[in-house]
Amino acid sequence: MAARAFVATELYGAAAPADPAGRVYHGDNLAVLDALAGKRSGGIDFIYIDPPFCTGNHYHVLRIAADEGGRQKLDRPGAYTDRFAGGLDGYIDFLAPRIARMRDLLAPSGSLVVHVDWRAASCVRLLLDRIFGPDRLMNEIIWFKGFRGTRIRRAFQHSHDTLWWYTKGGDYYWSQSCEAYRDRSMSRYNKVDEEGRRYALIKRRRHDGTIYYGKTYPQGKWRNDVLADIPTMAATAPERTGYPTQKPRKLLDVLIASLCPPGGLVADFFCGSGTTLVAAAAGGRRFIGADQSPVALNFTRKRLACSSPEVSFAVMRPRRAAPRAGAPGAVVRTPAGTLRRTGPAGETLDFWAAGPAAHGVFRPAWRAAASGKKTLPAESPPLAETGAIMVLLAGPDGREIWSLV
Ligand SMILES: C[S@@+](CC[C@H](N)C(=O)[O-])C[C@H]1O[C@@H](n2cnc3c(N)ncnc32)[C@H](O)[C@@H]1O
Repeated sequence: MAARAFVATELYGAAAPADPAGRVYHGDNLAVLDALAGKRSGGIDFIYIDPPFCTGNHYHVLRIAADEGGRQKLDRPGAYTDRFAGGLDGYIDFLAPRIARMRDLLAPSGSLVVHVDWRAASCVRLLLDRIFGPDRLMNEIIWFKGFRGTRIRRAFQHSHDTLWWYTKGGDYYWSQSCEAYRDRSMSRYNKVDEEGRRYALIKRRRHDGTIYYGKTYPQGKWRNDVLADIPTMAATAPERTGYPTQKPRKLLDVLIASLCPPGGLVADFFCGSGTTLVAAAAGGRRFIGADQSPVALNFTRKRLACSSPEVSFAVMRPRRAAPRAGAPGAVVRTPAGTLRRTGPAGETLDFWAAGPAAHGVFRPAWRAAASGKKTLPAESPPLAETGAIMVLLAGPDGREIWSLV
C-alpha cells in the first residue's frame, strides 16, 4: 500500500492538522506499518504490542444496556477474534512480517516489548531472536496479575503474562524505575515534613568524622523483572472500559517511563481500547496507535477524546474508507441552536461529537461521552456554528453514524 494511503478524517484537540500529538490508524497494521515505512523509519522510540495470544477465542465487549422497556440487559457485541489457521505456526507467520517492519521503524536507541502468555511465549521469543538477534533480549518481564478468577481444576492457576523486551541496538534508552516500598520498609520513614511527605533521619558521617542526622525520603526499590504490584483490573474497576483484554494503565505507565524518553514517540500497533496511547499522552509522549477492529477504534477515540488534560490526535483511515454523512434524522437541530439525538433510549451508542462540516477533516467543536453510571446526553449545548454541522455518533459495538444537520 502506498505511503499516502491513510488520510486524517477526524481531528481532536487544539493542534494544527499537521501536528497532533497522536495518530490512531484504523486498519490492518500490516498496511499501517507499510504506510509508515520511509517517513517514520528509525523514528519511533518505543513500541509496545499486546497482540492476540493465539487463544482460539472470540472476544466480546461487556456492557449493560437498556432494552426497549428500559430494563437492564447484558449486551455483548463482538470485538475481535483470536484464531489463526494453522494454530501456532499460522500465528507466528502472522506476527513475523509485522514485527520485522516494527524493528525497521524503531530508533537506534529504541525498544520493543511484546506481551504474550504461556501459549505462545516460547515461539514468540524464537521469532524475536531471529528478527532482533538473541543478544538484544534485555528482559523476560513477568507480569504477575494476581488472582484471575477463572479456576483451572487440573493444573496450577495461570497468573502471569510474559513480556519480551528487545532493543534495536546496544545504546538504548533506559530510565531506572522504582517500585513503592511496602509498609514494612516504610516504617522507618516515621517523620513527616511541612508538605506532608514521610522521611527518616539517617545517621551520616562528615569528612571530618563528625556525625549528623540527614533527612532521607523513600525512593522505592529498583524494579526487577517481576511486576507484582500491578493487579489485573477487577470487573468493577473504574478504569475498565468494557473492551475485552484491556490492560491496566499502570503497566503501560511503568514501561513508557522506563523505555521511552520524555517527549519521545510511542507506538502500539494492536492498540485495542487505547491503553498505551492514553498512558503515552499522560506521560508527555507522542503516540501512534493502530487497530483493525471498529469496536477498538470507538473505545480508543472515546478514551482519548475525553482525556484530561486534552489530548490532540487524528484518526487516520484508508483513503477510500473516509466517513460519509448519511442517516438523516439521527440528530435534529433545535431552534435554540442545540442538537438533539432522536434514536431510541438504550441504543448502543456512547459517544457523540459535532462540528462545522466545512473543512475536509471533521473537527468537533463539542463532544460528549457516557462513562460509568453517566449516560450519553441526549442534547448538546447551543453550538455557535451557523452553517452545516457534521455529527458523529459512535458505539461500543463499533457502530458509527455520520450525519449532516
Ligand atoms: C489483546 S487486544 C489489545 C488490548 C489493548 N492492549 C488494551 O489495553 O485495550 C489485541 C488487539 O489487536 C487487534 N488486532 C488483531 N489483529 C490485528 C491486525 N492485523 N491489525 C490491527 N489490529 C489487530 C484486535 O482488534 C485487538 O483489539
